[in-house]
Amino acid sequence: MERIAIYPGSFDPITNGHIDIIKRGRKLFDKIIVAILCNSSKNALFTIEERKEMLRNSLHDMTNIEIASFDGLLVDYAVERKADAILRGMRAISDFEYEFQMALMNRSLQRNVQTVFLISGLKWIFISSSVIKEAARYNGDISNMVHPFVDKKLKEKFGFSNP
Ligand code: PNS
Repeated sequence: MERIAIYPGSFDPITNGHIDIIKRGRKLFDKIIVAILCNSSKNALFTIEERKEMLRNSLHDMTNIEIASFDGLLVDYAVERKADAILRGMRAISDFEYEFQMALMNRSLQRNVQTVFLISGLKWIFISSSVIKEAARYNGDISNMVHPFVDKKLKEKFGFSNP
């Protein structure tokens, strides 16, 4: 039986921290579905299509990865996709409460889908899509925190790309 994990998130945009978690997850699962939440309450910088394009570029050298998007409850999507687990990255203690709450809510909604937490490399512990966007907005150098394609898209978005 193929072991499938869903790696859900906003991915606005994908960072090297996300890529690191996906690489680690590939050692545990046969297939990882990287799934962008469509109906988020967060104000996104990039459209779903732009985020998918950045995911495709950042993960182009990896096999057994599917890039998808979903609406509604994550656990319903997990059941629909016959996933065994939800994969989440855990950074600092500050992530814990939110992740713990979400994992327990998901478990009470659907007992058969387990949440698996992985810890990224130390290099990525303090980065997030939000801080990267904040730095990129003022032309800060974030080239060592995202794939070059994402760096380019951020520069374009904030008007810093070369003509
Ligand atoms: O990258 P993010 O924004 O931290 O990801 C959050 C995400 C997409 C995993 C979470 O918001 C989610 O699963 N939303 C779908 C709605 C849902 O199932 N909510 C119940 C769990 S609290």
